[in-house]
Amino acid sequence: MIAHRIACGKKAGVLGFLLVRDAYKVRVPVKTEPVEEDLLKQIDLDRLPKHIAIIMDGNGRWAKRRRLPRIAGHRAGIRAVRQAVEASARLGVPYLTLYAFSVENWKRPHTEIKLLMSLLRQYLKKEISELNRQNIRLEVIGRIHELPKPVIEDLQNTLDQTRQNTGMRLVLALNYGARAELVDAVQELVDQAKQNGTLKVDESLLSEHLYTRGFPDPDLLIRTSGELRLSNFLLWQVAYAELWVTETLWPDFKQRDLFQAIIDFQKRERRYGGLGMS
Ligand code: FPP
Repeated sequence: MIAHRIACGKKAGVLGFLLVRDAYKVRVPVKTEPVEEDLLKQIDLDRLPKHIAIIMDGNGRWAKRRRLPRIAGHRAGIRAVRQAVEASARLGVPYLTLYAFSVENWKRPHTEIKLLMSLLRQYLKKEISELNRQNIRLEVIGRIHELPKPVIEDLQNTLDQTRQNTGMRLVLALNYGARAELVDAVQELVDQAKQNGTLKVDESLLSEHLYTRGFPDPDLLIRTSGELRLSNFLLWQVAYAELWVTETLWPDFKQRDLFQAIIDFQKRERRYGGLGMS
């Protein structure tokens, strides 16, 4: 039975950049373009974000600019997914969440939805061995039970086959909406209150009923393609996240963009409503 979280829920210039992260015991070289070497040197590996969340936007525009069908943009988007996943895992970022399909995305034409689901299934099937090689554990958030049955089965299979991995958690947000998540959390709390007669709700209790229970809140939220909105993504969890928006369309997103986002993140002063150090 699918777990509760799922139920509700370069070749050029190979840099000699070798890392050993706590949760990732094997030394793995990251393949980088020469331009990325400089960026890498600027990253303080001891102050990485614990959780990066990405709104992958711009697949349609990428395709349109090339007079290609929208799905070609989504297909190219998978290459960017691989770049982001691999770069994050190898740097030692503990959590990476990708907004892959929102509750609002059902409004798209049936053919696009079908193709997106099929791309997701292809990704899951192809990527299991790569996820295992990179010690990455898959997680999912969203109303997964409403997805087509074959997609649920492939997700369950990948969850099972990567469960033993101790490195980065790759969290796919699928049929996800932050408002839906809050509604589901409140419903669970109401059900509990009915059973127990009473219930005192505070921030930590509510957090424990979100799909993301047990995950740290994202400290860096990246959005591609230049739009300045949150699009119903992790609204509760990004309360104190640093936002980083790039004009780059998602299919063009490369390791260097991720590195630049982390460099900029590390320059920010995070005050959490306090006065900070300066
Ligand atoms: C937004 O671009 C992107 C999506 C709605 C889907 C994202 C999906 C992928 C990158 C491929 C599958 C993902 C995984 C994890 C296997 P858009 O279509 O809204 O672009 P537009 O705003 O330019 O039209």
